[in-house]
Amino acid sequence: RTHKITLIPGDGIGPEVSGAVVKILETAGAATGVSFDWHTYDAGADAFAKTGEYIPKALYESIEQNKVALKGPVTTPIGGGFASINVTLRKKFDLYSNFRPIKNLPGLKTNYPGVDLIIVRENTEDLYAGLELMIVPGVAQSLKIITEKGSTRISKFAFEYARKFGRKKIHAIHKANIMKVTDGLFLDCARKVAAGFPEVTYAEHIVDNTCMQLVMNPYQYDVILTENLYGDILSDLCSAFVGGLGLVPGANLGLDCAIFEAVHGSAPDIAGKDMANPTALLQSAILMLRHIDEAETADLVQKALEAVYTEGKTLTKDVGGTSGTKAFADAVVAAL
Ligand code: NAI
Ligand code: MG
Repeated sequence: RTHKITLIPGDGIGPEVSGAVVKILETAGAATGVSFDWHTYDAGADAFAKTGEYIPKALYESIEQNKVALKGPVTTPIGGGFASINVTLRKKFDLYSNFRPIKNLPGLKTNYPGVDLIIVRENTEDLYAGLELMIVPGVAQSLKIITEKGSTRISKFAFEYARKFGRKKIHAIHKANIMKVTDGLFLDCARKVAAGFPEVTYAEHIVDNTCMQLVMNPYQYDVILTENLYGDILSDLCSAFVGGLGLVPGANLGLDCAIFEAVHGSAPDIAGKDMANPTALLQSAILMLRHIDEAETADLVQKALEAVYTEGKTLTKDVGGTSGTKAFADAVVAAL
């Protein structure tokens, strides 16, 4: 079987981690009779330099056709410049669900062994709608958009996932004590959906308390259901339970298309130094393999990854090792 997949290597550490992941997937696929037809595109500043567009039309068309993309991180300039490529793609393809499993890998020691929680983040609304302006000099405004449709569909996603995979508890994370109308609407929708899933325990926590609760005892959480901004921040916090941003994968899921990418960004501090950990993107690729019904290949890659961590001899610096990106990828290939 051959799968056509849109590949966005990204910038910063993007080309290094995506190079590693492509190599690992090709090797695993060769063993299971699966091949990949990668359709590769730049996005962001690199794409602009080549095509005059931050997201080339051909990239949009490729995702529309292939329905599945694997994406490395893309740098977003602070302040002026261009709008986030990530946010733009998520909105364009209505990838309303950002699914981020936070699970310790066997063999890797962290301060929080055995954490296994999932963040389900609404991915198209909230303060990330990008509706900002300077009203008058010295006064800026950003609109927080929360809709019944957006809140209901992300809640349904979380509860249906919990039902399907036997997850017991969902916490809606909010700040409805202050943002009574927007976060209030989000909670109303979550409660209505929760009523249809009596087998899943439903609870609500305020986001600032949640930060403390997570650090004190992450084990009390199972599935976290939340809005776009809180989900973004909580994801980076939770990544620390499992070894940091080099580990945590993500899937941006819509009704039609899906883009798989790590939680981390382009990490300019370590870019081009053969230091980046490709595990986060590799685990995103494993989610992608399951999404395209290649469970056997997914399992194979997962086992090889776990073997490398269990052996613990070829790990990258972020998780206490001394190896580079390439050596780590080679170890996974060898384990395959
Ligand atoms: P970052 O996630 O790129 O890096 C934060 C810290 O984690 C850095 O110390 C970095 O070295 C480390 N880190 C991240 N990924 C790693 C990996 N795979 N292996 C080892 N260490 C890793 O966040 P930062 O520095 O705030 O953002 C850099 C750029 O990335 C910004 O332009 C931001 O907008 C963009 N970004 C893009 C995302 C995307 O494309 N989906 C997501 C998050 C940020
Ligand atoms: Mg983020």
